[in-house]
Amino acid sequence: MQPCTIIIFGATGDLSQKKLLPALYHLDAENRLTPETKIVCMGRRESTQQDWHAKVTDYISAKARGGVDNSLLDRFLARVSYFQNDINDTASYQVLADTLNDSANGFPENIVFYLSISPSLFGVVGDQLSAVRLNKEDKGWRHLVVEKPFGYDQKSAAELEDTLRRNFTEHQTYRIDHYLGKGTVQNIFVFRFANLLLEPLWNRNYIDHVQITHAEQQGVGGRAGYYDTSGALRDMIQSHLLQVMALVAMEPPADLDDESLRDEKVKVLKAIRPITEDIVDQHAYRGQYAAGQVNGQTVEGYLDDEDVPNDSVTETYAAMKIYIDNWRWRDVPFYLRTGKCMPESKAMIAIRFKKPPQELFRDTKIGDSHANWIVMGLQPDNTLRIELQAKQPGLELKNHTVALETVESDDNKHKLDAYEALILDAIQGDRSLFLRSDEVNLAWQVVDPILEKWAKDKSQVDTYEAGTWGPEGVKQLQDNDCHTWRNNI
Ligand code: BG6
Repeated sequence: MQPCTIIIFGATGDLSQKKLLPALYHLDAENRLTPETKIVCMGRRESTQQDWHAKVTDYISAKARGGVDNSLLDRFLARVSYFQNDINDTASYQVLADTLNDSANGFPENIVFYLSISPSLFGVVGDQLSAVRLNKEDKGWRHLVVEKPFGYDQKSAAELEDTLRRNFTEHQTYRIDHYLGKGTVQNIFVFRFANLLLEPLWNRNYIDHVQITHAEQQGVGGRAGYYDTSGALRDMIQSHLLQVMALVAMEPPADLDDESLRDEKVKVLKAIRPITEDIVDQHAYRGQYAAGQVNGQTVEGYLDDEDVPNDSVTETYAAMKIYIDNWRWRDVPFYLRTGKCMPESKAMIAIRFKKPPQELFRDTKIGDSHANWIVMGLQPDNTLRIELQAKQPGLELKNHTVALETVESDDNKHKLDAYEALILDAIQGDRSLFLRSDEVNLAWQVVDPILEKWAKDKSQVDTYEAGTWGPEGVKQLQDNDCHTWRNNI
C-alpha cells in the first residue's frame, strides 16, 4: 500500500466522530496504514492541535473495539492534525496547499479527499481545491470519497455529477454506500458463487419470490431535519436495498475486477420493469409511525418530533415490489421493505422456492405443501439458513420443516465496521465496492415515478404503530397469499 494524506472535510461532524476517525484508528491499530500516512482534519472552528487530539481521543474511546490501547492511540494521534478552513475562502486552501507541498512537513503526495459534508458543498470544495491545483495529479494520485445522498432525484443527481466532474474524473470518484462495506453483504456474493449447490436453483424456474427486509428499532432520532426531506424510499431503498437486490439478482461477474462487479449490477438495474406513475400503487406502499412501544419503551410518533412539521407526509416505512425482466428473473417478484421503529433491528434476504411439482406431503392444517426457503441474515448476525422438509420421527409418514443453519456472530473484538473496509479500498484505489455514476442514475430512475406520485398525492400515507412490522395496507403489494412477509431469520 502506498502512503497517503487523508483529508477529511467536515471532520468535526457526526459521521467523522462516530465512524471515520474510529475506523482509521482501527486500521492503524491493525497496521493497515503505512507509517508515513497522515490524517488532516478540516473544520470551520478554531482549535489547537492539543484540543483536537483531546476530542479525537474521546471519539475513539467511545468506539474502540475492546477498549483503547494507549500506545496505539498515541501512534494514531501523531498522524492527526487539525486544519481550520473556511470552505469558501481560497486563501485558506492556499495555506493548505502550501503546507502539503512543503516536503519538510512530511505529508505524502497521494491524497484521499473525504467529503463528509453536505452534497450542496461538493462543488465549492472541488472548485477551491482546483483553484490551488490540489486536484491535479502532478505528483501523486487523488481519490475523492463522497457520501450519500447522491441527489434527491434523477435530475438533481445528474446535476451533482456535473458538479463533481468539473474537477475530478469518474475514475477518481469513490461514492460510498456503507452497505457494500458490510462483510455480511459481501457474503451474498460468496454464498452464491462459492457454492455449487445454490446457483443452479437461483432463477425463475425454482424461485417463487424474494424478500429483502431492513428493519430498525430506532426512530429518526436527532436526524429529523435531514430525514423529513428524504423519507425511507430515498434513504434506504434507492441506495442500500437496491444494491443488495442487485447482488442477489446479478449474473456471476467474469472476475473480481473493479468494473466487472459494477457492470453486472448495472445490468440488473437496467432490467427492472419500469414502475410508471399509473401503476405506483401496485408496486409501492408507504407508512409513517405513530406513537407506540419499541422494546418495552414508549416511543412518540413521527409527527410528535419537534423537528418534524405537523403535516409531514414523509414515510418512515416503504415497501416495493420489483420485477426484473431478464431471462433469469422474469415474473419473480422482489419485495423490498424498510422501516423505522420496528419491533426488531435486522436485515435479511429471504428466498422462497416454488412448491415441488407433485404434492405428496400436504400439510394437514394448511392443506398445502411447505416451500423451501433460503434466508440470509445480514444483521445482527451473518446467517445462512436453508429450510427443507424431512420426515417427522415416528410411525407416520408426516413431514416437517428442518433447517440447516450457519451463524457467524462477530464477537465485539473482531466486528469490523463497514467504513474500515471502504476507507482501505479508497486508499488502495479499489473501486469495486463504490457506486458508479450509472448505478446511481439507474437507481433514481427506478424510484423517481414513485417519489413524484407520492409528492402529489399527499393523502395516501398510511400509519403504523411504533413497534409493529409496518402498515397493514402493505398487503396490497402481494401477488398472492404465499407472499406474506417473513419476519424471522
Ligand atoms: C443510513 C440511513 O444510510 O443507513 C439511516 O441514512 C439508516 O437512516 C442507516 O438508519 C442504516 O444502516 P445500518 O448499517 O444501521 O443498517
